[in-house]
Amino acid sequence: MSIGIDKIGFATAKYQLKMADLAAARDTDPNKYSVGLMLDSLSIAPITEDIVTLGAAAADQILTKEDKATIDMVIVATESSIDQSKAAAIFIHGLLGIQPFARSLEMKEACYSATAALNYAKLHVTAKPHSKVLVIASDIAKYGLRTSGEPTQGAGAVAMLVTSQPRILALNDDNMAQTRDVMDFWRPNYSNTPFVQGMFSTKQYLDCLKTTWAEYQQRYDTNLKDFAAFCFHIPYPKLASKGLNKLLDKSLPDAKREQIQQNFEASIHYSRQIGNIYTGSLYLSFLSLLENAKTLKAGDKIGFFSYGSGAVSEIFSGQLVAGFENRLEKNRQAQLEQRQTLSVADYEKIFFEEAQLDDQGNAEFDGYDTHSFTLDRIDQHQRLYKRN
Ligand code: CAA
Repeated sequence: MSIGIDKIGFATAKYQLKMADLAAARDTDPNKYSVGLMLDSLSIAPITEDIVTLGAAAADQILTKEDKATIDMVIVATESSIDQSKAAAIFIHGLLGIQPFARSLEMKEACYSATAALNYAKLHVTAKPHSKVLVIASDIAKYGLRTSGEPTQGAGAVAMLVTSQPRILALNDDNMAQTRDVMDFWRPNYSNTPFVQGMFSTKQYLDCLKTTWAEYQQRYDTNLKDFAAFCFHIPYPKLASKGLNKLLDKSLPDAKREQIQQNFEASIHYSRQIGNIYTGSLYLSFLSLLENAKTLKAGDKIGFFSYGSGAVSEIFSGQLVAGFENRLEKNRQAQLEQRQTLSVADYEKIFFEEAQLDDQGNAEFDGYDTHSFTLDRIDQHQRLYKRN
């Protein structure tokens, strides 16, 4: 039985920061961002847009009434959780009106956990072929002002409906994971922003890729010739590009090399304009590939490299299903261009705004544009959302 991604949706914040503006404000050569990191702009979320509103908006685009009546599991993968106890998946389950007899939970491991969620969804559908599982990767990537990671921030959510007989991607049974205990990026409970050993983290990313790929190739007796494209976790596109170079061995025929390189360019198209969205970034790369590549066809094998600091990495693959191109959004680029551009001063205020709670734990917000859902207010420490 084939199991995989039947539908995929995406939502990002309605505001953006242009890298050229950030470079000017930080007295940095703009080429460092546009060439050195390969970033043009970042999505900036206001206080009323969080992982719940973004995740719900991404899923809302793809789900029909029938899907909502059938989904029996909702998993939200995130690094930027809004609650230490209650799962964001429960808020989203409620906002979307999914039938009550469903399991809802949240998963965490830095940028990696959506890959575990996808795998859990696959196992669930294997056991119950009529089930549908909603997997959402939703994050607001916030490093802090004037930190080394500041130019790689971002916000967004990818929603995937996992079913049997999927119409976009059939997942293969070839997952190869690796765990290593390293402190490259972590966020203690008392901190809103991560502690990062930036250069060390890039080395871990690349070494996890190299070693997981070597083990994957050996276990599954395969190499890059078998793939049409490879999607990467994209903390910033330049690092993924270095990752690709690790896979492109010299024995690869020129035509294959060119195909993989062209598809890689398509896969980073959205990330260049959105920045890092942590758990969703690998799946945004897949969406970008699907919507921007020129030569993809049914049956093409796509490789995936997932990485979450700490660290867990995983390589797996899937096969494109006939008709996948009919399941995609046609005007994503136009939507990205419609984001309102913020000045650096407004970005500094809006992205880092904190709720000012009164003695009873109440706060009200207004004045910001959000996707289809909004964090309306906090009432006695309860986050209350509304559909726009
Ligand atoms: N023109 C063109 N290129 C320039 C330039 C200029 N004027 N100035 C610098 N550059 C280039 C540099 O040569 C470098 O390119 P190479 O890597 O090819 O050498 C690139 O721009 C970056 O410059 P620096 O090496 O000076 O590094 P930086 O100060 O920009 O910091 C970073 C890079 C440490 C990764 C920082 O962005 C960071 O801390 N990011 C957050 C952590 C991160 O993303 N880690 C990735 C792995 S962890 C992970 O994957 C999980 C996750 O999502 C966080």
